[in-house]
Amino acid sequence: MQVLSVTPEIFPLIKTGGLADVTGALPIALAGKGVAMRTLVPGYPVVMAAFAKKKPVYQYPLLQGGKASVHAVKVGDLDLFVLDAPHLFDRQGGPYGTASGADWPDNWRRFAALSQVGGDIAGGVISGYQPDIVHAHDWQSAMTLAYMRYGKAIGVPSLITVHNLAFQGQFGAGIFGELGLPAVAMQLDGVEYYGGVGYLKAGLQAAWAITTVSPTYAQEIRSPEFGMGLDGLINMRATDLYGIVNGIDVDIWNPETDKHLVANYSAETLAARAKNRKAVEERFGLEADGSPIVCVVSRLTWQKGMDILAAVVDGIVAAGARLAILGSGDAGLEGTLLAAAARHRGRVGVVVGYDEGLSHVMQGGCDAIIIPSRFEPCGLTQLYGLRYGCVPVVARTGGLADTIIDANEAALSAGVATGFQFAPNNGGAMLHAIQRLVEQHARPATWASIQRQGMKADVSWDKSAEKYVELYRLLLSKRAA
Ligand code: ADP
Ligand code: GLC
Repeated sequence: MQVLSVTPEIFPLIKTGGLADVTGALPIALAGKGVAMRTLVPGYPVVMAAFAKKKPVYQYPLLQGGKASVHAVKVGDLDLFVLDAPHLFDRQGGPYGTASGADWPDNWRRFAALSQVGGDIAGGVISGYQPDIVHAHDWQSAMTLAYMRYGKAIGVPSLITVHNLAFQGQFGAGIFGELGLPAVAMQLDGVEYYGGVGYLKAGLQAAWAITTVSPTYAQEIRSPEFGMGLDGLINMRATDLYGIVNGIDVDIWNPETDKHLVANYSAETLAARAKNRKAVEERFGLEADGSPIVCVVSRLTWQKGMDILAAVVDGIVAAGARLAILGSGDAGLEGTLLAAAARHRGRVGVVVGYDEGLSHVMQGGCDAIIIPSRFEPCGLTQLYGLRYGCVPVVARTGGLADTIIDANEAALSAGVATGFQFAPNNGGAMLHAIQRLVEQHARPATWASIQRQGMKADVSWDKSAEKYVELYRLLLSKRAA
């Protein structure tokens, strides 16, 4: 089975968040299950630098304002189609905006182009390649499904995975004329959304199936509270909605072999984590007193609940825990957290920035990782935490609710607890979870059992990749019907 995946990011080439981890790991997990996944990605400078250019497999004299070509290349284990369109993607900065964080003003054009090419490939423009299924991710590639629906690929089964409903790609009606779609597409059951063009909305409408990255989030987005205005449409499509929890790449995230760690370890040699803890203490300027280090590895945004955490830093310190925070994002939050670190020298350390290597050392050395998200489609850092014996403390929402077993009395006595959950998501409930954590951390045998239980959890892609395969098969049978 040939599946074309279309995505704006893919690990290890270009990553701003979990989406890249997922689109980078899923093809590898599927390869062992009879699915050949090829991924179409934009030719950002870092992507173009990852391969030697040869003859393109397809050329556009004009694609959204400039020349473009498609290259079929293999980078590591990944089979890629790279869209080389310098006028759209050859820029310094991030994939969606400038280095200082402002969105590129022509993002609508950039991701319409990516999607149009996805639609063309689905329609068979590349000789010798015809995908059986097309799999889009988030708003940046959602329009692929609209280009398919209003073009040659109308009969090719498609699905869209929603990684985050908060980002919808909503643009003014003025762009419609430049999208190259037929006039009939600009209506309520097409790409039109609140008088403008909605990219994610268009994808949700056109997809044969919709998936999101955990069963709980799949339910949550059917409610106005989490639906971000799209709950009506999602409810209409409820019979085609699936929640499949993300896995992680257990080879990249393996404490026994991880090259970023100061010391490797397994569930049997947890004491070796002390060397990684020491590295964290040094990097974050923390006193070494044996109290639990709770870490944060996160985008610093409202979604991630970092303001809720910032408001109770004093309470966390008073409860006897230390904090090591790695993140970047909202400038106001960065400032608040840095101020908290200044107030609690030796107890709270903050590194502002994005540092993949340091994130591994933190998972390998800290005692716990806290994820107080207001909503969390899946979340990956709690899965890394499980695998590394870095006990997750999570808000009970979305994928966090689905992947962590709270250390309540029943779970502790049954020996199945893997972390701590709290709800509702407010400072009081969070502090209570931290207090429970400090209490259990003081009981070394119980603590080690929580760590080991987490390390035993199956966080690999195996089961979830199987679920995608089942869904692909179901869609193929619908095509045949
Ligand atoms: P989201 O995609 O919403 O940001 P996820 O938990 O799915 O949340 O994925 C976040 C990914 O980005 C994880 O791989 C995490 O380790 C990584 N990450 C987030 N912030 C940082 C940072 N400041 N430094 C290094 N890695 C980070
Ligand atoms: C999004 C979500 C996160 C999820 C990731 C990968 O960025 O915020 O919860 O883990 O996508 O699916």
